[in-house]
Amino acid sequence: MLKEVIATRFITPLREGGSLPGLVEADDLGTYVIKFTGAGQGRKTLVAEVVCGELARRLGFRVPRLVTIDLDPDLGLGEPDPEVQGLLKSSGGTNLGMDFLSGALGFDPLAFAVDAEEAGRIVWFDALVNNVDRSWRNPNLLRRRDEVWLIDHGATMIWHHNWPGAEASAARPYDASDHALASFAPDIARAAVHLAPLVTEDLLTEVTAQIPDVWLTDEPGFDTADDLRRAYARPLLARAAVVHDLVNGIGGTR
Ligand SMILES: Nc1ncnc2c1ncn2[C@@H]1O[C@H](COP(=O)(O)OP(=O)(O)OP(=O)(O)O)[C@@H](O)[C@H]1O
Ligand SMILES: [Mg+2]
Repeated sequence: MLKEVIATRFITPLREGGSLPGLVEADDLGTYVIKFTGAGQGRKTLVAEVVCGELARRLGFRVPRLVTIDLDPDLGLGEPDPEVQGLLKSSGGTNLGMDFLSGALGFDPLAFAVDAEEAGRIVWFDALVNNVDRSWRNPNLLRRRDEVWLIDHGATMIWHHNWPGAEASAARPYDASDHALASFAPDIARAAVHLAPLVTEDLLTEVTAQIPDVWLTDEPGFDTADDLRRAYARPLLARAAVVHDLVNGIGGTR
C-alpha cells in the first residue's frame, strides 16, 4: 500500500502541467505534487501513474515517492482561480501525491547528456508501458544534479482504455523517434538483458497491489479490484519479453 497522507493546505497550482497538478502540504509536514482525481483525464491516469511509477522504481529508476492524499474539498474555498477551485471541489477523497523534488530542473536534452546505457534503460521502460509522453518537446524527466528522475506516467498503457483489445494492443510496436532520449544512442538490447528478467508475475503482483481499491471499482467486465489488477499485470508480463524487438525509430542501435 502507498503511504496515506491528509492534505492540510493547498499551496499553489503548478502551472506547467496539462492536468493542472498542484502543490499541497500534508499532515506529515511533507510537500507533495498532487494529481487530482477530479481532473479531466480521469482516474485511469492516476492508476497508470501508480503502476508505472512503482514498476519503474522496482526496476531501479529514480521516481519520486508516491503517496495517496486524502483531500477535503473545502480546502479549495479560498482559492481565487475558479478552475482550480472546481478541481479541488470535485476531488474530495483519494488523490495521488508525489514527493516534490525541490531544486530539480526540467530535463533539457540539449543541455544535459545521458549515456547510451541509461538512455536505453529509459527507452526500454517507456516502450514496455507504451509511454507516449516522453518526447523531446515534453520530456517528463527531471534533473537534479547529475541524476535523472522519471515523472508523469499518466499517458501510458493505452490498452487500459479498451480491455477486450488489450492483448492485441500490447503486442504493437513502439515508435521512439520522438523520444526525449532518442539522440543518445539508447542501447535497448543491453537494457532488455538486464531489465526483462526482473519483470516477473510476482513483481507485477506487488506493483499492482499498490493501486488504491477506490480507483478500481465499477470497471465494466471486472467483478473485483484484484481481477482488474491482474488485467494490468498480464500485458506487461507478455510485453517485457519481446518489447526490445518492438521499438522503432532509433537509427542503428538495435
Ligand atoms: N515530483 C515533482 N517534483 C518537482 N516538480 C515536479 C514534480 N512533478 C511534476 N513537477 C513539475 O510539474 C510539471 C507538471 O507535472 P506533470 O508533467 O506530472 O503533469 P501533467 O499535468 O501530467 O503534465 P503534461 O502536460 O505533461 O501532461 C512538470 O513538468 C514539472 O515541472
Ligand atoms: Mg508532464
